[in-house]
Amino acid sequence: MPVNVFLNGRYCEEHEAMVSVDDRGFLFGDGVYEVIRCYRGALFKLQEHLSRFARSAAGIDLVLPYSAEEIAAICKTLLDKSGTKNGMLYMQVTRGSAPRTHEFPSVVTPTIMMKVREIDEQFFREKKKGVSVLTVPDERWEHCDIKSLNLLPNVLAKQKARSQGFHEAVFIHEPGVTECASSNIFIVTGGTVVTAPEGNRILSGITREVVLKLAGEAGIPCELRYPQKNELYKAEEVFFSNTVEEIIPVLAVDGNVINQGKPGNITLRLQEMFKKLVDIETS
Ligand code: PDD
Repeated sequence: MPVNVFLNGRYCEEHEAMVSVDDRGFLFGDGVYEVIRCYRGALFKLQEHLSRFARSAAGIDLVLPYSAEEIAAICKTLLDKSGTKNGMLYMQVTRGSAPRTHEFPSVVTPTIMMKVREIDEQFFREKKKGVSVLTVPDERWEHCDIKSLNLLPNVLAKQKARSQGFHEAVFIHEPGVTECASSNIFIVTGGTVVTAPEGNRILSGITREVVLKLAGEAGIPCELRYPQKNELYKAEEVFFSNTVEEIIPVLAVDGNVINQGKPGNITLRLQEMFKKLVDIETS
């Protein structure tokens, strides 16, 4: 078995990694996480992910056990040790292990864990041709900008979508379309790319940021506002983005066909630009 886990200062094989049953991540979801893609053995947008990791930890008053430089070095060492080329690195920190009390324990050491795995390129290649999505009520808390381990509403939404044959669940909240269970969503209307603004209703996706930058470079107008549900149904194009899947065209929303069931030109253009950027930054 390869060394593919880092746990509290130690690199080890997965079966050697043990966490206490009193860990607050296990008991309360008291922690935050990141997912980082690697291509050809290089981590894509590592600094951006580490900045968000630090912001998320600060958002729940958790002091990270290492500096950003130390975490970056650990990520790279783990990736090298595992021999992973095209894959993902999962990283999480919890407040640590202590007898169960809701309030923070007076003495506790954070648990930090990273795990690397190869990804199934073929699976994602298929999805890049387009998927269908289901809208669901956004029943999450008011701090969706924190990448917290508390993902139960996201898990239930995704399961609801998958059990009905949809790939992703799209959250609808008071201001409109917020994001998806594990991605940010965009519509194209009147040739403009529209997506929810940063704030407490969405996770500020690293891929979302790249998409907006690429669209700017291509001269495609972008607008940051919450799309309305009826706009989603009538959009010229719909797509979503996240670290693992990159940019995925949406071909139907709640059974309403988008762009005659084909990925739109803007989506295809952004997919192509994204691939070029990855090639430049990781080769
Ligand atoms: N999720 N919104 C939510 C709720 C997410 O969970 C994610 C990513 C995103 C996109 O963020 P980024 O582009 O930085 O990956 C938006 C990861 C992939 C996950 O939970 O596995």
